[in-house]
Amino acid sequence: MQKILILDFGGPYAQLTARKVRQCHVYCEIHPYHTMTAADVEEFSPIGIILSGGPESIHGVDAPRLPQELFQLNIPILGICYGYQLIAHEFGGTVTHCQATSAHTPTLTSLDTEHVLFAEHFPDAITWMCNTNTVTALPQGFQITASTAQCPIAAFYHPEKKLYGLRFHPEISMTKGGVQMLRQFLYQVCGAEGSWTMERYAADMVRHLREKVRNKRVILALSGGVDSSVATALLARAVGPQLSCIFVDHGMLREKEGDQVEAIFSRKDIHFVRVNAAQSFQTQLEGITDPGEKRRIINEEFVRVFEAEAKKLGTVDFLAQGTIYPDVIDAGYTDVVKSTHKGGILPEHIGFHELIEPLRYLFKEEVRELGRTMGLPEMLVNRQPFPGPGLAIRIIGTVTPEKIRILQKADAIFTQALESARMHEQVSQYFAVLTDNLTIDINAADRDPKFTLALRAVNTDDFLTAKWTRLPYELLDSISNSIIHQVPEINRVVYDITSKPPATIEWE
Ligand code: XMP
Repeated sequence: MQKILILDFGGPYAQLTARKVRQCHVYCEIHPYHTMTAADVEEFSPIGIILSGGPESIHGVDAPRLPQELFQLNIPILGICYGYQLIAHEFGGTVTHCQATSAHTPTLTSLDTEHVLFAEHFPDAITWMCNTNTVTALPQGFQITASTAQCPIAAFYHPEKKLYGLRFHPEISMTKGGVQMLRQFLYQVCGAEGSWTMERYAADMVRHLREKVRNKRVILALSGGVDSSVATALLARAVGPQLSCIFVDHGMLREKEGDQVEAIFSRKDIHFVRVNAAQSFQTQLEGITDPGEKRRIINEEFVRVFEAEAKKLGTVDFLAQGTIYPDVIDAGYTDVVKSTHKGGILPEHIGFHELIEPLRYLFKEEVRELGRTMGLPEMLVNRQPFPGPGLAIRIIGTVTPEKIRILQKADAIFTQALESARMHEQVSQYFAVLTDNLTIDINAADRDPKFTLALRAVNTDDFLTAKWTRLPYELLDSISNSIIHQVPEINRVVYDITSKPPATIEWE
């Protein structure tokens, strides 16, 4: 399979670059720059290398470098930001320190449209420019391919050595036509054929799983989330009769969610077990108000219930998990054991011989695409993230069956309203929170206080930062009315207009 190697110098955009390369149907992997020798790179055998940006200056005492032999492998190299400095420095160019005003700025850039990377562009483009060091004199044999008013050498290349440097970030959407520049590098320079597709991945992975598992048994913890669902679909196709999926229903899912998961996966070709464990989770959570404590209890109870169910199956050879590529990268490129809920480490507790992670090299959008390819319904493939501890962390204070029921009902009204208004596709995550704030209801005969419900909707690319969604007032008004009329225990609805940071997405 054709591969691109991304050497990561610690900038924030290596993953984004990788996702853009994959979107161009070329497989790529990210590796920290210092973990690969020239021999390792040769063995990896990429059709091209991308050097990411990074926070360092090439003039720093510990400035990251690459082994010189790596530049002699005759593999095309594209250096972005720090990578741009590094290539110029390596071949004897001058890199000048620049007084940065802010990290990146949109900059009017003149592109040489005769140059292969910019062939499809207009001569003037807005690029997302790094304000770090700039190349002020090119090494011998290199040519300028883009410039700005402040920076005469904003991009360069060496025709024979196939080395390309960009001071700006093509992977960021603010760079007009940036993906097209990457595509040109992949297809016109590296000779990519576009063979990375989810159809092919599914076929290859099914074959691989069959060879690996043969006639042994596989167990999988199915949560109904995208990752574990797509992993199930792959395993079901590969080794269905040997697969046992255990779905621990802790009773704190959204309305009807448990039944939906059961309807989709209780198929004849796999062994599906739904464990209705609401009662035992509820008992453990009684009187608990601290969010950290709620999470810990739920994690522990989950492992306990899963373990008991797994034991009933006898010897299990493989434990399958829906680990995805960002989990692997975030864990520092080392092996990661994905918890089914943050903090709940399953493999340590379950006796099995080997771990299988069929989605280990896929980004989230690829997992969704793969799910579609495997015929999973859109409501499952497009599902918004839902925290492992479920509604327990969306009920402020103690969790009771009554509060779960109230929140499920209100949350379902919110969801339904967004879906009917066709807003749900434009929002990354939305949900209701049952606060512990009670206020008097002047309509009620007894004036008994009732609950305040908070609505939250955010837009985000990575869930590390998020903006609150500007839902139309009219829509909020009608949602508030519906909730107050249909859920008698709630008499006040508020909309959360806080972004992350400083607030988190969840309330607990
Ligand atoms: P925060 O609230 O930290 O959430 O801004 C970021 C994303 O993580 C999800 N989240 C969780 N997911 N277990 C999970 O599996 C948890 O305990 C948990 N807490 C937050 C949250 O829904 C959002 O998508």
